[in-house]
Amino acid sequence: MVFDKPAVEDGAAMWELVNNSTLDQNSVYKYIMMSEFFSETCVIAKENNKLVGFVTAFIPPERQDVVFVWQIGVASDQRGKGIASKLLEELIDRDACRDVRFVEATVTPSNDASQTLFRRLARKYETECEVTEFFSEDLFPMDDHEGELSFRIGPINK
Ligand SMILES: CC(C)(COP(=O)(O)OP(=O)(O)OC[C@H]1O[C@@H](n2cnc3c(N)ncnc32)[C@H](O)[C@@H]1OP(=O)(O)O)[C@@H](O)C(=O)NCCC(=O)NCCS
Repeated sequence: MVFDKPAVEDGAAMWELVNNSTLDQNSVYKYIMMSEFFSETCVIAKENNKLVGFVTAFIPPERQDVVFVWQIGVASDQRGKGIASKLLEELIDRDACRDVRFVEATVTPSNDASQTLFRRLARKYETECEVTEFFSEDLFPMDDHEGELSFRIGPINK
């Protein structure tokens, strides 16, 4: 398994992985754009040159000690092998994250796998996982979108 920064050529495979999952769908442009402008805070996992997982993230300009995970996904036939955990650890270890002390993400209440993933990350770094209500359901125009909880993991000591 190879963990690396994404190139624009990886955008289409990230988009396809998302389309085959329960994650919110976005345009392929968004993945190409992340690979071009935010590759320092995005990680891809490839096996035999095939994309099997990715995390797209960014450091909010006004909070340099935070890396916000916008999406993390692993191909369904590759789940449960620790790939998502490794993607997050690779992200935290990047030079671009040298000042990062908190990992933040939003997660829907029904997403058990994702909640376990972030709680496990807090355990790994022997730190806190603070969960608060964040984006309320009424912000989303569609009928079937849950509200999103904020997960804030840290402070992380590297
Ligand atoms: C969430 C997701 C990225 C986890 O990927 P993964 O590579 O299987 O995760 P890991 O193998 O690193 O497992 C991390 C932890 O989550 C747990 N976990 C994995 N799948 C789970 C599930 N379906 N239900 C409950 N816990 C689960 C693992 O047991 C592990 O915890 P442990 O070490 O305490 O046992 C993957 O399930 C996925 O792509 N889901 C669809 C997309 C999604 O929901 N993304 C997150 C939105 S923010």
